Order: sequence, then structure tokens, then C-alpha cells
Amino acid sequence: MRVYQVKSYDDMSRKAANVISAQIIMKPDCVLGLATGSSPIGTYKQLIDWYNKGDLDFSQVKSVNLDEYKGLPRDNEQSYYYFMYNNLFKHVNIQLDNTNVPNGMEPDSEKECLRYEEVIAKLGGVDLQLLGLGRNGHIGFNEPDETFGTITHCVNLTESTIDANKRFFASIDDVPKQAYTMGIKTIMKAKKILLIVSGEDKADALAQAVHGPVTPKLPASILQLHNDVVIVADEAACSKMPK
Ligand code: GLP
Repeated sequence: MRVYQVKSYDDMSRKAANVISAQIIMKPDCVLGLATGSSPIGTYKQLIDWYNKGDLDFSQVKSVNLDEYKGLPRDNEQSYYYFMYNNLFKHVNIQLDNTNVPNGMEPDSEKECLRYEEVIAKLGGVDLQLLGLGRNGHIGFNEPDETFGTITHCVNLTESTIDANKRFFASIDDVPKQAYTMGIKTIMKAKKILLIVSGEDKADALAQAVHGPVTPKLPASILQLHNDVVIVADEAACSKMPK
């Protein structure tokens, strides 16, 4: 694991965008694993900026997103498809046919999860997986558990996650209680992983993920076992790291 400590959210975003843009330049038809949430918004903005300056070309890039709320259609403003479309896809020349997000409207969880695993396999796997970190150490929607969730599956969201995400919904009752997410095994199969972390509310989770025991009770700790992980975290997120 390589940890880059940077000063601010903006610095984190620029450095993360640098890593992603290097990936695209070195392999123009790469498969990017993408994430949602507030952490990657600045990264996507920076990528869009470089695209507008003519420095980046997404025309051959393929993408697979980590997760999606179960029960939300693509045109729901809180769906992760909507997020991706509005924060990245519509601003660059990625072909929408080359983008993939789990289908939250498929009621048959088993069917959707197997379909999604097949999509990733057919693409030849993920070259670079971008990840955010949940306050409880979750990655994607892999919540703290007794075991590591394996492949793409349907999860019941924990109270902490529902609480963290309620700011985006009219009321806490509107926050979906389930989601489809790539599993830990799916994530760990990515060739490279880029974890971005910002803010003091993530400091405990980050310190545990990097320096604590590898345990499904803190899902991001599994990243210690991956051989190509880059973490970009701001000062606040690093504030609980051992000196
Ligand atoms: C959500 C997403 C995760 C994301 C996490 C952190 O639960 N499913 O993929 O990493 O929240 O979000 P934020 O970046 O907004 O703190």
C-alpha cells in the first residue's frame, strides 16, 4: 500500500485524477471501476477539466460502477447511475454503451448480481478501481460483517450508512435499505486500486484500514492484502494515523 497524504480535498482530487488519467493514457481502452459519493466528485471535475483541455480521451474507456441502490430507477436523482451521468459521463466523450452500473430496478437479486459479474468478466476485469471509504470502513456497499462478502451481491445497508446518506434524501424513510454492490472478491480482483479519503469523520476507519487487523468488521482492511493499492488521503483523514 502506498499512502499519499495531501493537504486538502482539492489536492486529493487532483492527485487521484492524475492516477486515473495516467491509466487512461497508458491504456486508452482500459476498464475503470468507478465510485460515487462526495469523495470522487472533485476527482471527476478534474478529469472533466483535463478532457476539456484536450488532454484526455475517454472514447475507448469502459467503466463498471461499484454499486447501486436497489429499487431506484436510473432517472431518480439519488440513483448512482444519475450521479455518474451528471458528474462524469455527460461531460466527457465516454460512450454510454461502454458504461455499466448495476440495475437497481431488477428485483431478482441473484439474476442481477450474476449478470453484473458476467459483465465485468467479459470486459476482462477492472484495470483501476476507484474507491471511497465509508465512515464504518465499508467499500462499495460492503458493510462490516462476520465474513467478507464475495462477489456482487445484494446487501442490507447498516444504520450508519443509511444515516450518512440521508442528507441526500427528503427524509430518512426515503433512503433505500438495500443495494447491489460488487463484493470484496470482485474488488480485490481489480489490477490496481485507488482509495481516496477526505475528512476527519473517516480518520478512524482509515487508520484501522491501513494499520489495523484484516477483518470483515472493517471491510477496507482487506486492501492490505492487495498488491497494488494507492491511497490518497487529506490531512484530516490522516489525523488518526500512527505517527
Ligand atoms: C456510499 C457508497 C460508497 C462510498 C461511501 C462514502 O455508501 N456506496 O461507495 O465510498 O458512501 O461516501 P462519501 O464519499 O460521500 O463519504
